[in-house]
Amino acid sequence: MTRTVYVNGEYLPETEAKVSIFDRGFVMGDAVYEVTAVVGGKLLDFAGHEARLARSLNEIEIENPFAEGELLAIHRELLAKNELVDGGIYLQVTRGNPGDRDFVFPDPAVVKPTVVLYTQSRPGVLQSPTGINGIRVISVPEMRWHRRDIKTVQLLYPSMAKMMAKKAGVDDAWFVEDGFVTEGSSNNTYIVKDGAIITRPLSQDLLHGITRAALLRYANEAQIKIIERPFTIAEAQAADEAFLTSASAFVTPVIEVDGAAIGAGTPGPIAKRLREIYIDEALKAGI
Ligand code: PDD
Repeated sequence: MTRTVYVNGEYLPETEAKVSIFDRGFVMGDAVYEVTAVVGGKLLDFAGHEARLARSLNEIEIENPFAEGELLAIHRELLAKNELVDGGIYLQVTRGNPGDRDFVFPDPAVVKPTVVLYTQSRPGVLQSPTGINGIRVISVPEMRWHRRDIKTVQLLYPSMAKMMAKKAGVDDAWFVEDGFVTEGSSNNTYIVKDGAIITRPLSQDLLHGITRAALLRYANEAQIKIIERPFTIAEAQAADEAFLTSASAFVTPVIEVDGAAIGAGTPGPIAKRLREIYIDEALKAGI
């Protein structure tokens, strides 16, 4: 099916949507993005993604191109035009097209941001085998820049990490810096020990996951103890359970790290319960 996508104010068939070869998103990786999950036609955690987009744009000094309420209206229009049931909406804002390649930022009064949004369909996303059966990961050295709290499109190293995982015959990679896990290639990471969730505190070292924020709120309401501190791979291997969160994976159990089974080597009870709680609550709050 040809999707209808959004580019700079227009809804177009995907085959007709175009961005300049001089666009700074293309030439410099000068852009930020968001992915918002869609389940049963509902947007999950939309307000969180909208707020993080505003923060990312502000951090790299791109003017927020959206008027109040506009971003939600575009999301809804794309959902309707593409009859999207399950999957997500990808959004990217770049610093625009200055008409040539230059390291210096263009004058924002002259060059406006490029805005692109499109739907990605994943029918039956809640029943994904990885979400239910769990995934296996390897650790790789953290080699990304030091502003991982900004959701930029500079995803070369995360893509390379994903390929390292694939070559090793597993599903994903966890980044390790100074002996501690920062996060996964495209997700936030957690271990469970003695009934408590352990996860790295927020800083510039990792993305401030929207699913993470919602999950910790729900876990707190369910009176599950949360300890925000960094953890090592050895701790993960000795943990009772592990899991990860993201807008595309929700809560996904992790059953093996660097060849060592975690707990029984199957999804743990707390990860399974948190997946259920997250999906229930996020759907209830979905818009
Ligand atoms: N990735 N950490 C990284 C490095 C990520 O890329 C992501 C999300 C997360 C989780 O954030 P959230 O819960 O807000 O999705 C953490 C998206 C899904 C992606 O790149 O497709």
